[in-house]
Amino acid sequence: MKPIKKIAVFTSGGDAPGMNAAVRAVVRAAVYNDVQVAGIYRGYEGMVEGDIEELDVRSVNHILQRGGTFLKSARSDAFRTKEGRAKGYQKLLQKGIDAVVAIGGDGTFTGAHIFNKEFDFPFIGIPGTIDNDLDGTDYTIGFDTALNTVIDAVDKIRDTAASHNRLFFVEVMGRDAGFIAAHAGVASGALATLIPERETSIESIVEKLDEARRKNKTSSVIIVAEGGKSGDATELARQVAEKAPYYDAKVTILGHIQRGGSPSCFDRNLASRLGVAAVENLLNGERDCMVGIMNHKIVLTPFAKAITDKLTIDPELIRIADILSI
Ligand code: F6P
Repeated sequence: MKPIKKIAVFTSGGDAPGMNAAVRAVVRAAVYNDVQVAGIYRGYEGMVEGDIEELDVRSVNHILQRGGTFLKSARSDAFRTKEGRAKGYQKLLQKGIDAVVAIGGDGTFTGAHIFNKEFDFPFIGIPGTIDNDLDGTDYTIGFDTALNTVIDAVDKIRDTAASHNRLFFVEVMGRDAGFIAAHAGVASGALATLIPERETSIESIVEKLDEARRKNKTSSVIIVAEGGKSGDATELARQVAEKAPYYDAKVTILGHIQRGGSPSCFDRNLASRLGVAAVENLLNGERDCMVGIMNHKIVLTPFAKAITDKLTIDPELIRIADILSI
């Protein structure tokens, strides 16, 4: 195997708080191991276009606490084509890069896995997405911060809900996965939580609302994942209003505020540990896999497994939410 003298790092897919901390950790761990580092700007798009610059320990000063990603992120149609990937491969060779650390989610790792196969080029992944929907890690970078943002927002919404005896449908991110919704539901005391992984009928929501009303509950919050099987928050509110017009229902869509902001302490630590682990494992000859932390230990999961084996939401969390929302 060719010795690794220069590593490139990039961020791809939706930005997540803590991505900067992960880039910083990769850069510093590489330099610590006498390996040069370069940053690829705008993910795969930048790779195809050769938007690659040298980084050193000082390039990543004071980014640990910053949200977003200073390397920027983009979707790349070019990288989806074989010609685009071949172009990207040539750019990596031109810049003398021997291995790549990719920070992102399932789309990022799907691209990395294909690239590994096509060019036998060492790639290792770091899970960075607020969705927490990757197998091989208990938590992805950004999930904790996003959850805290959601909780903060729901707490504020609850003040109005309680003051005006209202019902709020709060829509959170999660096109295909309900981790944010499920965790936020428990932590914010939601009456119900609707996730893409589980169907919930309008009748059962109305029944739950009516039951709560009989027990003198005057206001309620229902958390809805944007990819909810039973519709988004707007659609649900419309259907509930049709069936039970006596509820003063409002909708709040939290949107991209969930992806922004300074990373939590948890995400900074997670990103720092994973960044160092990615570099160390690359230098030890690992490739085509993602670093994660499970049960407090660093683990490696092949990309192929990380992207296909979707995590299931802990049924215990759903059980607890049901018990506590009476
Ligand atoms: O980062 C993942 C995610 O938050 C999904 O839950 C959501 O559907 C998507 O990003 C939205 O991304 P975009 O910025 O493209 O709207």
